[in-house]
Amino acid sequence: MRKSLWLQTAYPRDSYPALDEDLSCDVCIIGGGLSGIANAYFLAKEGKDVVLLEKDEILCGATGNSTGKLTVQHDVVYADLIKQFGRDNAKIYYEVNREAVLFGRSFAYGDELRNADSILFSQSKYGTELLQYEKKAYEEIGIPGEFGRNSELPLKTVATLTLRDETQIHPVRFGQHLAKLAVQAGARIYERSDVRLMDLKKRLLYTNSQNEIQFNELVLCTHYPIEAIKGLQILKLIVGRSYIVSTPANMPLTGQYISVDNPKRSARTAYIDGKPHFMLAGEGHLAGMEKETQVHYETLSSELRNVYQLDAMQYSWSAQDPQTPDLVPYAGCISPSMPYVYLNTGFRKWGLSNSLVSARIISDQIVGRQNKAASLYAPDRTGFGSFLLQALKNTGIVLKEFTGGHISRTNSPICTHMGCRTRWNEADQTWDCPCHGSRFRQDGSVLEGPATKPLDLG
Ligand code: FES
Repeated sequence: MRKSLWLQTAYPRDSYPALDEDLSCDVCIIGGGLSGIANAYFLAKEGKDVVLLEKDEILCGATGNSTGKLTVQHDVVYADLIKQFGRDNAKIYYEVNREAVLFGRSFAYGDELRNADSILFSQSKYGTELLQYEKKAYEEIGIPGEFGRNSELPLKTVATLTLRDETQIHPVRFGQHLAKLAVQAGARIYERSDVRLMDLKKRLLYTNSQNEIQFNELVLCTHYPIEAIKGLQILKLIVGRSYIVSTPANMPLTGQYISVDNPKRSARTAYIDGKPHFMLAGEGHLAGMEKETQVHYETLSSELRNVYQLDAMQYSWSAQDPQTPDLVPYAGCISPSMPYVYLNTGFRKWGLSNSLVSARIISDQIVGRQNKAASLYAPDRTGFGSFLLQALKNTGIVLKEFTGGHISRTNSPICTHMGCRTRWNEADQTWDCPCHGSRFRQDGSVLEGPATKPLDLG
């Protein structure tokens, strides 16, 4: 399988044991990405007895396959947030993400973090209008954005919208460091410990090793939440997939760029152990919908050569991320009927800052502290307003894939989550489910949930 630049240049791995005994804890966290680790850190610092379970190795999922930007510039978003949630809530979204950036800076060292400007750019009249609209939203909220024309990229840009003093991180080194701090604060981390069954009424989990965990509170940080079906969030999430290529290159960009026109592209330089690596990302599509995915890597690789005049890609990987219909992640209690089960997902490719924000919201709720972003991020929020159509569309895609897949892909194995037909992903050599984004290795074992059981390859 492909491995990201970040995973290949991680610190030497701390090995965390696999669970081999029954235990009890105040808070059990499922999922060892940045959101799970940040929850473990915040809660352990509050004196909670925390257990974190990761089914593979920590940071190998969405975090280890991200583009490594810790910023408040989440593409074009603030104009839409004002429209949907009002100016005060859009401002809260900005402020809590800014606090997440500052929190990252407070403990990262060396190549884990580097200051960089975040820059949106347009190449068309329509894109420029989008930027103007976004700039107006910045002014309403009080975000210090700068409108301009030129960029460092070898592309014709019509306009740019720059936020100074944002950050880039090495997401795996950063996460490894935070995991160490969580363990120092008392958290217990277990790898290769897969949750197979839950009895939420009895507050019990059962793992692949036949062990039981008794918890008071449960935090689901599994990307696509395995138990969220009890609330209806699972029907509202949609899973996107995108591709990243990278090559060692002396292209010392000071900014991290995102195009607002189609096809979307994201470009940045990463400095690892003093060496620059250029990264180009894009080619997004809905997860599980395509078989011939190699074409996406080839398209980005040919842009590396033809647009950026760089060597062929040396690293290539893909990322998968759920998104909510209204752009804001879910963080908090799944529903009032289960006040001890918390959910953390829907980061829409902006999981580095948003996972820190979400972990702060959840840990505050667990220790009984107010958090100004809690109602904005609440999983049971309703009233999708202008995003209602998107919510319905997301549900429609799942229903269409469920029936369509059973007619057109009768040889593909059936996903063990809710029975959709999977689709073979040529480039990554995985079985991908188009309904809620489960992924399975070639041998049928689970790579990404919500599925928890392997495929029957019969
Ligand atoms: Fe839900 Fe496959 S992920 S049916």
